[in-house]
Amino acid sequence: MAQQTYKLPDDFFFGAAMSGPQTEGHWRDGGKIENLWDTWSNLRIEDFHNRVGSYAGNDFTNRRHDDLVLLKSLGLTSVRTSIQWSRLLDADGNINPEGEKYYHELFADAREVGIEMFVNLYHFDMPTYLFKRGGWENREVVEAYAHYAGKAFRAFGKEIRYWFTFNEPIVEPDQRYTNGVWYPFIRNYARARAVQYNISLAHSLAVREYRAAKQEGYLLDDSRIGLINCFTPPYTRENPSAADLEAVRMTDGVCNRWWLDLVTKGELPQDVIDTLASRGIELPARPEDKLILADGKVDWLGCNYYHPERVQAPAQDTDENGIPRFADPYVWPEAEMNKSRGWEIYPKGLYGFAMKARDEYPELEWFVSENGIGIEREDLKKDENGVIQDDYRVDFVRRHLEWIARAIQDGAKCRGYHYWAVIDNWSWANAFKNRYGFVEVDLEDGYNRRPKKSAAWLKQVATTHVVD
Ligand code: BG6
Repeated sequence: MAQQTYKLPDDFFFGAAMSGPQTEGHWRDGGKIENLWDTWSNLRIEDFHNRVGSYAGNDFTNRRHDDLVLLKSLGLTSVRTSIQWSRLLDADGNINPEGEKYYHELFADAREVGIEMFVNLYHFDMPTYLFKRGGWENREVVEAYAHYAGKAFRAFGKEIRYWFTFNEPIVEPDQRYTNGVWYPFIRNYARARAVQYNISLAHSLAVREYRAAKQEGYLLDDSRIGLINCFTPPYTRENPSAADLEAVRMTDGVCNRWWLDLVTKGELPQDVIDTLASRGIELPARPEDKLILADGKVDWLGCNYYHPERVQAPAQDTDENGIPRFADPYVWPEAEMNKSRGWEIYPKGLYGFAMKARDEYPELEWFVSENGIGIEREDLKKDENGVIQDDYRVDFVRRHLEWIARAIQDGAKCRGYHYWAVIDNWSWANAFKNRYGFVEVDLEDGYNRRPKKSAAWLKQVATTHVVD
């Protein structure tokens, strides 16, 4: 795309996305119990001598006021984080007073600084004791989540306007239960879909809790509830076969339409359920579930976008572990890659999602809830003043914002943009190796914050809404 200047709407908001477990630290303080991040990821990265992982996060708890001031100084007006279930509630499901106090103080800091907090309730961080009882495969855990959501709405309802039930609910079924990448490394497609189904119920029950709490006067009148997922239209090869298109249908059905139908229609896509059933994958559905799912409709949606999906017809019906295959990855010969993360860079995919939402879900309002580029060993890219020279970050974000601006011109109801993660944080995929921030966190220097070269550009765009 030829470079030109784009203007985003005046009421389009700019902000930052992060999560409780990746930033807060203090994993055992203030009555907090363990969650899966603590139990598994800290074990994995023990050799980092407690400097990374949920032990310390990015030291946000200690620095939160200064961090919020810093984000505000970059022209950002909103921040999405998550409440940690394992901090807010104890193992009996009661409020942990110190945890509640922590979040009241955080939200008060944000108000004082002039940052709108968006709050998500779940960022892959199930309390470990509930995981040991079966996690999302156990209906009691689904109910425990709804109970937790109800407690959170009632505790903070007068402080928070924008609520989200889940971040990327498709990721846990895939990473924990299909790909065997995350603890407990299961490779069982049927169990993954059961988990996905139960998370859909958990989302819907939480929305039910939200509506009840609102009616009871616990929430702000103009508050909203939403869901955040990673959405992208899947692409296949040129001149696709019928089987390639079938791979597209199922990939889109499981990853995108599943959630889009749930949050707009209060139901799950029947064609997907039928295809799963035709391969012997039955969901753990009960007669009462239709009414529960019907309550899953939301007020708006977050779209996390990092890379596109490229798929083709599967070479075999099952893989070597007997897992049914509905699609194989397709490597587009012209793909531009972020080699650090192994993810394709394809800004136009956001436009694709925007047009899908406009055409197939015309009432749906949404925003870009995560987008970003993680690069390894950025410390090698410093100038003589110690400032990381990250022009690639400007290029990445600028190109994505351009496609967002074009989508808005073409009728997309996209309301804002949250960058992941404006201040570096850790991820359990790769600890602190991949850095996403416009602001460096220096692990060798007590987690000190230092703006990278790109921060000046971010400030310019966030304050003017002009992308050039
Ligand atoms: C998103 C998650 O999927 O991607 C974040 O919501 C995560 O938690 C981010 O950190 C970037 O992925 P990664 O694995 O490179 O940290």
